[in-house]
Amino acid sequence: MGAVSDDRRPILGGPSRGLTLLEVVFAVVLVLLAAVFVMTLMAEGGRPLVKAQMTTTASMLAQSKMDVLMGTPFDSLVAESGKFPAPNDRYKFEVSLSALDSTVKRVRLTVVTPQGARLEMTALRAPPTEDVGQKKFQEYGCQACHAISKYTWATGTEGPNLDRMAEIAGTRVPGMSAETYLRESVRDPAAYVVDGYGPNMGGYPLTMMPEDDLDAVVTFMMTLK
Ligand code: HEC
Repeated sequence: MGAVSDDRRPILGGPSRGLTLLEVVFAVVLVLLAAVFVMTLMAEGGRPLVKAQMTTTASMLAQSKMDVLMGTPFDSLVAESGKFPAPNDRYKFEVSLSALDSTVKRVRLTVVTPQGARLEMTALRAPPTEDVGQKKFQEYGCQACHAISKYTWATGTEGPNLDRMAEIAGTRVPGMSAETYLRESVRDPAAYVVDGYGPNMGGYPLTMMPEDDLDAVVTFMMTLK
């Protein structure tokens, strides 16, 4: 009887009993599995989170860079590349331009995150209408007869000086707005002949000057104050 009771082993182990090799290995495997599980969680939850943050930063940077580009004077827009934002300069950007037609530029901005993700943004940039108008004014050769002091290219003397034309236009014909007067002056100058001048301006009917061009020229003249 005594021999049988000596052979019994405690099921849960006792103070005198150490861990068997198998139990140690099992515990180590468990710890490793837990570590792998945590790392997997971080890989799936953590990294995309960082990635998303980078993309958010990239789109914010792209938006503010695009705002700057849209505010840049039309003729100063140039293709460029560089790194930003200061002080770390971790993001890259590239600006390329292509002409849509003679007046509109397509601006393409690419922002590259430190991880190499690319974010593209495009916008169309048209010159302000008054710039187009100035160009049109020149194309039609109005400066051959009209002077505008602030523009060295406009020195004609056969017609009135247009320095303060935007202000004067509204006072020429009672009840006629400045714009209406300017439109009439271009389409049909003889309708109102400025004192001291002969009806020497030919006038630009629709067949010579499309409505869009007239709009632009008038917009330009409305800046002469
Ligand atoms: C051949 C010369 C000549 C050309 C070219 C010419 N003009 Fe004139 N323009 C005149 C003369 C002369 C007058 C004054 C007589 C009159 O009121 O019709 C005048 C008058 C005007 C007036 C009214 C000025 C005022 O003080 O009320 C405007 C505005 C004007 N021109 C705009 C233009 C524009 C815009 C162009 C080009 C699209 C142009 N002109 C081309 C000779 C010219």
